Amino acid sequence: MARSRVGQVAVVTGASSGIGWELARQLAAEGAKVALVARRAEPLQELQKLITEAGGTAMIAVADVGSREQVEALFRSVAEQLGPIDLVIANAGVGRPTFLDPVNMTDVEDTFRINLMGVIYTLSAALPTMLARKSGHLVAISSLASYRGLPGESAYCASKAAVNVYLDGLRIHLHNTGVRVTTVCPGFVTTPMTVANTFHMPGLMTAEYAARKILRAIGRGTKVYNFPWRLCMMVKLSRWMPDWVMLRFMDDYNTDAAKPHSAKNDA
Ligand SMILES: NC(=O)c1ccc[n+]([C@@H]2O[C@H](COP(=O)([O-])OP(=O)(O)OC[C@H]3O[C@@H](n4cnc5c(N)ncnc54)[C@H](OP(=O)(O)O)[C@@H]3O)[C@@H](O)[C@H]2O)c1
Repeated sequence: MARSRVGQVAVVTGASSGIGWELARQLAAEGAKVALVARRAEPLQELQKLITEAGGTAMIAVADVGSREQVEALFRSVAEQLGPIDLVIANAGVGRPTFLDPVNMTDVEDTFRINLMGVIYTLSAALPTMLARKSGHLVAISSLASYRGLPGESAYCASKAAVNVYLDGLRIHLHNTGVRVTTVCPGFVTTPMTVANTFHMPGLMTAEYAARKILRAIGRGTKVYNFPWRLCMMVKLSRWMPDWVMLRFMDDYNTDAAKPHSAKNDA
């Protein structure tokens, strides 16, 4: 059964845009006090205004989740301003393509620093207090792209696969501690991350819809939430497909991936 969020303290990283923006807005509408985290202050201020005008509570914490120091500092400031943290959603991420010749190594390194280390820093910073209180919920937004390496997205898919496995270990390790763990793997969502995609995106969802589904799964304490289910089945089946079948189905997918970095897909 879904739990009430009234009075809960929630941290949402990547709240300046897309899925994170919607997650934060909906959490605040359900009565949670929300800490809005991202690097850009301006969109966070807009969201804070929206939330407070609707009668909710939100604070802003400008931070780069790829910096452990900044993440630890932001958690100290959230605890001081809003109180002990009940829910953390490590949502911040980048969707940069991986090129072939030359490999855009800085983007590959950034992808792992933000998508993987950013999640680990974020969840780890919340953990000691949650363990002491024997209560809390850690969530990471991974992706259905974590289940199969896709052309032109090698770094992105690998970073998300690592998130899944890290959270699997964490969830089992935290058994019986009162701290719950949820991995969320969405399919395609209309956000600035996907807006420049030229290929067909099956099952494309709005951020508003995706956030609603994610919050419902979190409320139920789902361990791993993959959605939409049709795309999830296709992706899981694709794990057993030989490369030539993948190539046939994906001939229009990231056809520009061999070109130098164009900042396409960059968050
Ligand atoms: N859109 C999809 O189809 C889709 C599908 C599956 C999974 N996802 C995942 O969902 C999450 C949200 O993606 P989205 O589609 O909503 O993308 P988005 O609209 O581009 O938002 C990405 C968010 O992450 C923040 N961010 C990026 N790097 C950061 C950093 N170093 N430190 C702090 N914040 C950072 C951005 O804020 P600033 O730029 O202000 O820092 C922004 O708020 C990502 O993890 C993504 O991989 C997306």
